[in-house]
Amino acid sequence: MKSSPWWKEATIYQIYPRSFFDSNGDGEGDLPGITAHLDYVQQLGVDAIWLSPFYTSPNKDGGYDVANPRDVDPRFGNLEDAKRLIEQAHQRELRVIADIVPNHFSDQHEWFQAALSAGRGSKERARFHFYDGNTDGTPPNNWISLFGGPSWTQVEDGQYYLHLFDSSQPDLNWDNPEVNEDFEKTLRFWIDLGVDGFRIDVAHGLVKEDVLKNHSDPQGLSNALRLDVAMDPSKRNALLLTVPYFDRQGVHAIYRKWRTLFDSYAGRDIMAVAEAWVHPPENATRYVRPDELHQVFNFDLLTAEFESKALFEVIDRAITLNATVSALPTWALSNHDSPRVASRIGSEQARALALFVFGLPGSAYVFAGQELGLPDGELADSDRQDPSFFRTNGVIKGRDGARVPLPWSGETTPFGFTSAKPWLPISQSWKELTIESELQDPKSSLHLYRNALNLRKDLMTGSGEINWIQSPGHGDKGNSLLSYTRGTVTVIMNLSESAQECDIDGRLLAVSNGTVEGHNGKKVIPARSSAWFSA
Ligand code: GLC
Repeated sequence: MKSSPWWKEATIYQIYPRSFFDSNGDGEGDLPGITAHLDYVQQLGVDAIWLSPFYTSPNKDGGYDVANPRDVDPRFGNLEDAKRLIEQAHQRELRVIADIVPNHFSDQHEWFQAALSAGRGSKERARFHFYDGNTDGTPPNNWISLFGGPSWTQVEDGQYYLHLFDSSQPDLNWDNPEVNEDFEKTLRFWIDLGVDGFRIDVAHGLVKEDVLKNHSDPQGLSNALRLDVAMDPSKRNALLLTVPYFDRQGVHAIYRKWRTLFDSYAGRDIMAVAEAWVHPPENATRYVRPDELHQVFNFDLLTAEFESKALFEVIDRAITLNATVSALPTWALSNHDSPRVASRIGSEQARALALFVFGLPGSAYVFAGQELGLPDGELADSDRQDPSFFRTNGVIKGRDGARVPLPWSGETTPFGFTSAKPWLPISQSWKELTIESELQDPKSSLHLYRNALNLRKDLMTGSGEINWIQSPGHGDKGNSLLSYTRGTVTVIMNLSESAQECDIDGRLLAVSNGTVEGHNGKKVIPARSSAWFSA
């Protein structure tokens, strides 16, 4: 069954281009490397690919520091390569989502270079947030960069500019109409080249208010400031409630305008998904009101423990809250900013959770390598490249572990990813986790993903709501089982450390770990495992 429009219940495969496949022997992945492996992606059973940034960039923050949003960085290829990738994806019925970065540019963008030379009070500086410091020489306010250190950097003539991330990523001033005009030009540029949608980076950050006011930070949280997935969730949420630079109401006017732009491409079904780290979760649904964006990431799932009460709450709440604005939720277990799910909750648990969420209504996101069950790469400090590592003097290790290149084939590292030295080392211990080796093993994580995603497409998409059978406080024996039915399928997850007997009639369609025993309406689900049954 197919949902309509295409993005409503799609499975979307996130590709970090630098880590996917190196076609030209420079140690980094590139666009032709992706194009050459689209058959692999198609066979996984996904509907779309989301490409992390491949635009011209000095690469201080993995390409999220964009120097020209309407061109391809030579490390990744050129515009012809991008066009070919899109065409080849479309030939395989794969849609393409580009990652757009509207909160900031790279300091190498021509606008910022012009702002530096044009000087204080110029219209060039008005595209960013340039201010004089305080009379005692300190920055205009006390805001701290999310990568550590102050969020202000001083330029030669003494003024400061704001950067919520690295000092090489000056924040744009969205009160300046030129900024929106330029972004609309960028959106149209990529739509005209063939892309089907956008992932909007830091979607909650564009509009700033009271830029000269201090962050009062009553709980002293900003001392340890690092606002990301790896942060203790309660601290992160407390911080999200107090920071003055996120989730201002003005951002919604921008997305309403963009929605009109997307909808003006009749018949194209252009979609957008927001990266919006906001709290409380109700606020996230504002981004997916019917006249705004189409999807918003549900970050609570990226941090939830493998425990039935926590998972039930996160899943049920996402479904319920999205329904209030007639939207469907998104399910992501890993991305390029967070520890890989197999490292975070354990590899069996990661498989179980994936099979469980693939049955849910909404869109499922899979971060390349997740299908192989990859853990985070083991890295020495000398390998690290993430700016948050450097801006915190190594206190925070950063996100490189999740970005280690994919192991493709062969017995020794770098496992066919490149003929050169890979930009991050690939551990020899990944020998059994290569695509080649997993393709040969019917019990591999890759086979599980392929089977599950194809079943999801055939049986689940477009099947409407779920009905919980076992959940905390309802039919659950010992807080260890979660189960629901959807359409003709029953999905059950045993989160406990021991096998559990359940009342289920029906034919086994898939199991994440081990084998399901049983008959006559009783089935034994292995420990830390999920299964699908047809009625
Ligand atoms: C988003 C990206 C992250 C990047 C940051 C700044 O959170 O996902 O990788 O570092 O924005 O652009």
